Amino acid sequence: MRITVAGAGNVGLVTAVCFAEAGHQVTCLDTQKERIEILEKGHSPFFEPGLEPLLEKNLANGQLRFSTSPKQAYRDAEIIFIAVGTPEKKDGAVDLSYIYIASYHIAENIENDVIVCTKSTVPVGTNEIIKQIFQNRKPHHLKVDVVSNPEFLREGSAIMDFYLGDRIVIGADNPEAASIIEQLYLPLKIPIVVTDIRSAEMIKYASNAFLATKISFINEIANLCEKVGANIEEVSYGMGLDKRIGPNHLHPGIGYGGSCFPKDTKALVQLAGNVQHPFELLESVIKVNQHQHSLLVRKAKEMLGSLQGKKAALLGLAFKPETDDIREAVSLTIIKELLEEGSLVTAYDPIAIPNAHKLIGNSIEYTTNIREALKGADFAFIATEWDQIKHLPFDAYMTYMKEPIIFDGRNCYSLKDIQRYPITYVSIGRPTISTVKSAQRL
Ligand SMILES: NC(=O)c1ccc[n+]([C@@H]2O[C@H](COP(=O)([O-])OP(=O)(O)OC[C@H]3O[C@@H](n4cnc5c(N)ncnc54)[C@H](O)[C@@H]3O)[C@@H](O)[C@H]2O)c1
Repeated sequence: MRITVAGAGNVGLVTAVCFAEAGHQVTCLDTQKERIEILEKGHSPFFEPGLEPLLEKNLANGQLRFSTSPKQAYRDAEIIFIAVGTPEKKDGAVDLSYIYIASYHIAENIENDVIVCTKSTVPVGTNEIIKQIFQNRKPHHLKVDVVSNPEFLREGSAIMDFYLGDRIVIGADNPEAASIIEQLYLPLKIPIVVTDIRSAEMIKYASNAFLATKISFINEIANLCEKVGANIEEVSYGMGLDKRIGPNHLHPGIGYGGSCFPKDTKALVQLAGNVQHPFELLESVIKVNQHQHSLLVRKAKEMLGSLQGKKAALLGLAFKPETDDIREAVSLTIIKELLEEGSLVTAYDPIAIPNAHKLIGNSIEYTTNIREALKGADFAFIATEWDQIKHLPFDAYMTYMKEPIIFDGRNCYSLKDIQRYPITYVSIGRPTISTVKSAQRL
């Protein structure tokens, strides 16, 4: 089929590349000229494992092309995926302006009947507004069907998620349009759920809100474990064996970040408020998460007193491993708090430094060498569970730091392993190991 994808971001580009790989003729459109120039050279503007080879291949064999021209991209498309950003507004509501602009462009440039699938995460009712836009602006003789097709991929495993996702959700009020989109996905052999449009929109928000709830829940249990002398590792393992609970998203830490959970949970709270149904549970989930973001700096202050003038090594900037995305990354909160305390921060990350630098400039130092970050540091904070950090020999902390004091926000190390070394180790929901006497107060 002739497919056009609006938006060459994490969702749009992966969608475009994977449908091209499946043999469709795909055009990927973005409004950012520089982004399209990078893509036309066969490079991805962001890091996603496995994406670039597929991009290069499909660009070379002509299955995939890029454009900044809505006319060229939409003119003869049979299916259009909208995958533009839906960022958060200051009040927590969703900024739908990119969705509406993309819809205007589609309405003004199509020359065939078309099915428009919304992949972007949009509040319940948005696809009806999109339909209205087409109703008002499209050429009268053309038929436009609107389908909700929310995306569930995870950054860092997006290609795998395209091929091996848990489900595909298709929300439509026209069974014919639903069936065409179903055919498109059928070769993937992933369970397909066909619903009405509003339910499809809700499935996306409810799923993210539920996962965020699981994370905040286990983090609260971890905080309690610390107070009552239990070990969260054993607790979450014991809980996760219960099939009704399951082991996923029961890993404690310093809270969720990224481009989806924070904004989607707030958007659902807004949506509930708009229909006079206060979503108190989700409000608490958000509050617990915000509190969790500050946990490491609070622990450091409790243990070490003033952090003024101290050198901090911050290990990990990306909001999670295998991505260079720093949107709503917990590392940013830690940096802000450390700078407010008067600490000097050197951050390590294997790939996210350019994105961090764009946002916070030279307020901290950066390095892609962990040992460099640890050199002369008074304490280290682990914000992202990169393999490079998980597999760092413990000797490195002892060799390079002033005193090996680690505040681990992702429970990267086993207590059994680390307690064999003279390292002070503070993690989440587990007993603190403090073997260095002077570490009690710097
Ligand atoms: N990132 C994820 O992991 C993820 C997962 C599932 C769902 N989502 C949802 O998918 C949507 C897209 O997310 P993302 O992370 O890919 O966003 P992104 O910000 O990485 O990319 C959006 C892209 O759309 C482009 N764009 C904006 N207006 C446009 C227009 N009118 N025409 C063409 N391109 C336009 C932007 O220039 C940008 O490159 C959001 O609604 C998000 O919530 C994201």
